Amino acid sequence: MNTIKSLLKHLHPSSTKHSRQMMDFLKRKIRASTEKAIKFEDWMFEALYNPFLGYYTSKNDILFNERDILKNAPINGDFITAPELTPIFAKTISKQIDQTLNYLGSKDIIEFGAGSGILAKNIIQEFMSIGINVNYKIIEISNSLISIQKQTLASFNNQVEWLSSLPNKFKGCVIANELLDAMPVSIFHYSENKNIMEKWVGLDQREEFIWINKPADDRLLNAMNKIIPLIGPNYTSEINFQSEAWVRTIPEWLEEGVVFIIDYGFPRYEYYHPQRITGTLMCHLNHMAYSDPFTAPGIQDITSHVDFSLIAESSIENGLNILGYTSLANFLINSGITNIINDLDRSDIKNHIKNIGAVQKLISETEMGELFKVIAIGKNFQEELMGFSNNDRSQKLLV
Ligand SMILES: C[S@@+](CC[C@H](N)C(=O)[O-])C[C@H]1O[C@@H](n2cnc3c(N)ncnc32)[C@H](O)[C@@H]1O
Repeated sequence: MNTIKSLLKHLHPSSTKHSRQMMDFLKRKIRASTEKAIKFEDWMFEALYNPFLGYYTSKNDILFNERDILKNAPINGDFITAPELTPIFAKTISKQIDQTLNYLGSKDIIEFGAGSGILAKNIIQEFMSIGINVNYKIIEISNSLISIQKQTLASFNNQVEWLSSLPNKFKGCVIANELLDAMPVSIFHYSENKNIMEKWVGLDQREEFIWINKPADDRLLNAMNKIIPLIGPNYTSEINFQSEAWVRTIPEWLEEGVVFIIDYGFPRYEYYHPQRITGTLMCHLNHMAYSDPFTAPGIQDITSHVDFSLIAESSIENGLNILGYTSLANFLINSGITNIINDLDRSDIKNHIKNIGAVQKLISETEMGELFKVIAIGKNFQEELMGFSNNDRSQKLLV
C-alpha cells in the first residue's frame, strides 16, 4: 500500500529540497518570534502563500512543469477540482451566470482564485458560443498561477483582465470555486477541562515542529460562543476567520450582483458535529490525503472544509442577502446539467464516456454532489436564481 512515508521517500530531489527550504524558513520565523511560537494561521499562510516558497505561489515550478516529481509515476498535480474534471461544469455554471447577467444587464464576471484558468476559459467560450463577449476579471493571489492563467487564456486577451486589488464598484457576477477552503485557518482545542485554547506551532528540542496550546484570544473566544453548545470536551477543529473577513469586504465593492461560492463544507451544526473531534484539516500531495500539516510544507496543499453558516451570518451582518444554498448536485441539476448531457455530441465515444463519468462524479451523493455546496450571496438582486429552484437549503444555515 502506498503510504505518505513511501511517497516522501520517492519524491524528486527538487521537491524534497523545496520542502526543506520551506521548513527552514518556518523554523527561522518561529525562532525569531517573541513567543518562540507562531499561530497555526500564520504558519499555514506562509506554507501556502509565502511569495517565494509557498505551495500556491511556487506551484508553477513544482507541480505543473515537472512531470517527474515522483520517480516512475506520472504526476498530474495533487488534487482535481470540478472545472478541471470536465468542461460540462463550466457549461452548466454558465447557464446560471447568464441568468444573473441578463437580470443585471451586465457582461461582467469576476473570478477569485482562478487556479489554472480553465473555468475562465470554458465560461468565456460558452458565452462566445451564444454570441456574447463577457468581460472576465480575475483576482488571484499567486503570481505563478497568474502566469499559468495567462497561458491558458492567451487566445482571449481582449476579454480578460487581472485585477491587482478589489474593484471600486462592480455590477455583475462573481465566482469563487474552491477559494475559501484554501484560506489559512485558526485551530482551536476545547480541552478536557473545558478551556478554550488556540493551537500555535513551536519547535521541540530536535527542532521539529510541535503543537503548542495557548489560551484563546478575544477573537477566538467570541467565535466559540456559537460552537461550544455543539461540541464536547477534548475537541479540536478550525475556524476560517479569513473567509469571514473576505465576505465582509463584499459590500464595499459590489454594487449590484451575485457572488457564487462553490466549495466543500457544511452548515455549522454539521461542521462541528460532536463526533468530528479532530476537525477537517487535510493535506494533499500527489493525490494522497493525510492530516498532518507538518509533513511536507511548501509542496503539499493544506485545506479545510467551509462553515457555510459563518459565511451566511457574515453576509447578513454586512447587509447582503442569501439568495440560495444547496448541494452541488442540486445546483447543477437545477441549472440544467441533464439537458446539457443529453445534447452532447456522442460521435467521439471515448470523450463522451469520459464526460459522463465526470458528470457522475459531480452529481453523485457519494462523491462531489453532496459534500460540495453552492451558496449565492446577493446585493440589490431580487430575481430567484435557477440553481436553487428545487431543494434550497438556506434555512439550514441559520439554525
Ligand atoms: C484550491 S485552488 C482552486 C483553483 C480553481 N478555482 C479551481 O477550482 O480549479 C485555490 C485558488 O485560490 C487562490 N487564492 C487563495 N486565496 C486567495 C485570495 N485571498 N484571493 C485570490 N485568490 C486566492 C489560489 O492561489 C488558487 O488559485
